[in-house]
Amino acid sequence: MHAVLLDEANRAIEKTLPARGNDYRPGYHLAPPAGWMNDPNGLVFFRGEYHVFYQHHPYSVHWGPMHWGHAKSSDLVHWEHLPIALAPGDSYDRDGCFSGSAVVAHDRLYLIYTGHTWLGAPGDDSNIHQVQCLASSTDGLSFSKHGPVIEAAPDPQTLHFRDPKVWMREGQWWMALGARHGDDPQLLLYRSDDLYHWDYLGCALQGQREADGYMWECPDLFELDGCDVFLYSPQGLKPSGYDNWNKFQNSYRMGQLDDRGRFSECGKLYELDHGHDFYAAQTLLAPDGRRLLWAWMDMWDSPMPSQAHHWCGALSLPRELSRHGERLRMRPARELQALRREHWALQVGAVESCSHTLQLRGALLEIELELDLAASNAERFGLALRCSEDGREQTLLYFDAMARRLVLDRQHSGAGVSGVRSIAVSLSQTRIALRIFLDRSSIEVFVDDGAYSLSSRIYPGPDSLAVRAFAVNGAGVLGNAQAWELADLQL
Ligand code: FRU
Repeated sequence: MHAVLLDEANRAIEKTLPARGNDYRPGYHLAPPAGWMNDPNGLVFFRGEYHVFYQHHPYSVHWGPMHWGHAKSSDLVHWEHLPIALAPGDSYDRDGCFSGSAVVAHDRLYLIYTGHTWLGAPGDDSNIHQVQCLASSTDGLSFSKHGPVIEAAPDPQTLHFRDPKVWMREGQWWMALGARHGDDPQLLLYRSDDLYHWDYLGCALQGQREADGYMWECPDLFELDGCDVFLYSPQGLKPSGYDNWNKFQNSYRMGQLDDRGRFSECGKLYELDHGHDFYAAQTLLAPDGRRLLWAWMDMWDSPMPSQAHHWCGALSLPRELSRHGERLRMRPARELQALRREHWALQVGAVESCSHTLQLRGALLEIELELDLAASNAERFGLALRCSEDGREQTLLYFDAMARRLVLDRQHSGAGVSGVRSIAVSLSQTRIALRIFLDRSSIEVFVDDGAYSLSSRIYPGPDSLAVRAFAVNGAGVLGNAQAWELADLQL
């Protein structure tokens, strides 16, 4: 049965491919060959290769009964799409193989995911059943389902109960689950010796609706530089000041997880990324000890103009995590330097109440540049990226001196999207170091060596390729810049 459903799903993709439009297709980000993508799932290193799975609907460009799409890479740069790994359709996952994780045990690759069924009308979130399921593979290509290993939530009031993250801790398997108890969010923990039999350890952390949202999706719990990090995607946080303007957030807090499975927080709640499109992030531990992270580089209800081209959704670049006090730092994985092609060294200098075109063009670019705040007196200054010749299309990244914020403005970034996102720049800061990755339909900005990042989808026309430096009302000083054209791998 599973094999037949997988065949059908893979054929649906093959059938759609000839019709796919490529104007917005990323050159070096993972996106589904066709159809819909959301969360990254099952990030794992297996027999010398990185495997990335993702929430996938192969039959349309809208969310639907979730499958697990699959790709692998030996270097985090070149990716090979593989046949779809999981298709829903058994009684316990009839309406979706929801998000989850992967581990390697006895040289087998195991997937642990949430089986979803609608008990009432499809889409009626108040009448659902969710169970945690196991599947495995000996070759990392085809997967056999083993059915549910956790059949019911610990409390009948817990309907939403999903996104298992499994990891090894002192010789035992641990599982973190996001749950909604009544209207309050919870982090639940289980423990197992064999991945098949699980004991409920308890609620590791209890949230309150008002302060913490109503559900914590896609939890991840890992140790980083002597602290335990609880990474999750809270639903239901209210916007406050400049924070929480996306429909849902991707957040984290530091703490300590004890052996009984209690998580004691020792840090505040932080947003992981400050752009428009970053959700459901998950991590893996690379063989060299690095903690790598991917997120879905979109957001529920975001405009997705590539749907007209028969595909939508992309993953962020893989990022290396490190800890600085109670904050995380995310840097692009060092392997990504292999994407660099033609190199430009640019002396930009002072730009006075004007805008001028830089000697670099492209849809796929990496740009390193400093904004010299101390030497500038412009009200705002920075870069205009993916600019059309007539100036109508452009994505702005600039320092706003009055608000003292670094702003990413996609008001004129092409089809569909709009709005601004920003981060605070302290009064004592004299410069901002930027590292920018542009792909055909995305921008990722790493600020001050990964202290902050802003990731957003943009949909400029294929001919909007110019880069300009600009300053408004005064002089803006941009330090020397380097840029690279990046490889078009058409993933
Ligand atoms: C997060 C999420 C998960 C769920 C999946 C379904 O974006 O809602 O909680 O497992 O997407 O596709």
